Amino acid sequence: MNLSIHNITFSYNGWPVLDEVTEEIGKGSFVAIVGPNGSGKSTLLRCIDGILKPQKGRVLLEEKDIHHLDRPSRARTFGYVPQESNHTPPATVFDAVLMGRKPYIGWRVREKDKQITSRIIHQLNIEDIAMKDVNKLSGGQRQRVFIARALAQQPEILLLDEPTANLDLRHQLEVLQLLGSVSQDNITTLVAIHDLNLAAQYCSHFIMLKEGKIFSSGGREILTKENIEALYDIEVNIFHADNKIFFVPAGKK
Ligand SMILES: Nc1ncnc2c1ncn2[C@@H]1O[C@H](COP(=O)(O)OP(=O)(O)OP(=O)(O)O)[C@@H](O)[C@H]1O
Ligand SMILES: [Mg+2]
Repeated sequence: MNLSIHNITFSYNGWPVLDEVTEEIGKGSFVAIVGPNGSGKSTLLRCIDGILKPQKGRVLLEEKDIHHLDRPSRARTFGYVPQESNHTPPATVFDAVLMGRKPYIGWRVREKDKQITSRIIHQLNIEDIAMKDVNKLSGGQRQRVFIARALAQQPEILLLDEPTANLDLRHQLEVLQLLGSVSQDNITTLVAIHDLNLAAQYCSHFIMLKEGKIFSSGGREILTKENIEALYDIEVNIFHADNKIFFVPAGKK
């Protein structure tokens, strides 16, 4: 589904955070939202998900305002993984992932829901902990469980806030590869992400946020030395190898 973010302005109790953010996102895009701490990335994801209602502007899915969707349709449309997942009710990893099927099931779990859950547990490489309590996992394991739950939801739009923040190198790659393949299945995926090198490798569309405004947006062509330096107020070195682009911070301006 095409997602239109239209003129979003948001403040927390008078504290302005997003200022007239407008962006068109095509179906199946894999979008990286990048920018300094506090620039509004998480707030933007929450506005898109509908948890926060902007004071001005709208989020439209194929021309429909997401705030007009009823709760079950919204749950089938958006999967959201927050930046920090606090303590959750005790449940096994399997049951926590199965919870992602909730928008589709009444009181009875169907065989299909269990199969989808098992498949995703396998894809996220968490089979070995499937029977453990989610509150007794390491940060990275928990993160993969919450990503798995969002995938089990089979949403049209996936929103993930720092999905690789707690992951080791191998799992960073696996999760981004998986999200890349999910977006190829036409699920539009937006991630707020600090690792520019990973974002540059896997994502196809970039939104650079600075002080609540879009500093730049577009394809890989916007990942220039000038843009990155101005976005973060630092100096960077940029390298190209194997058709990939790498940024290394070089110093403060
Ligand atoms: N619940 C809240 N109440 C009040 N202010 C908030 C709240 N959440 C965030 N803010 C403020 O809004 C601004 C944007 O925060 P946000 O979490 O969207 O930034 P971010 O780009 O995701 O940052 P980070 O890279 O650190 O995750 C910050 O100045 C922050 O202090
Ligand atoms: Mg954030």
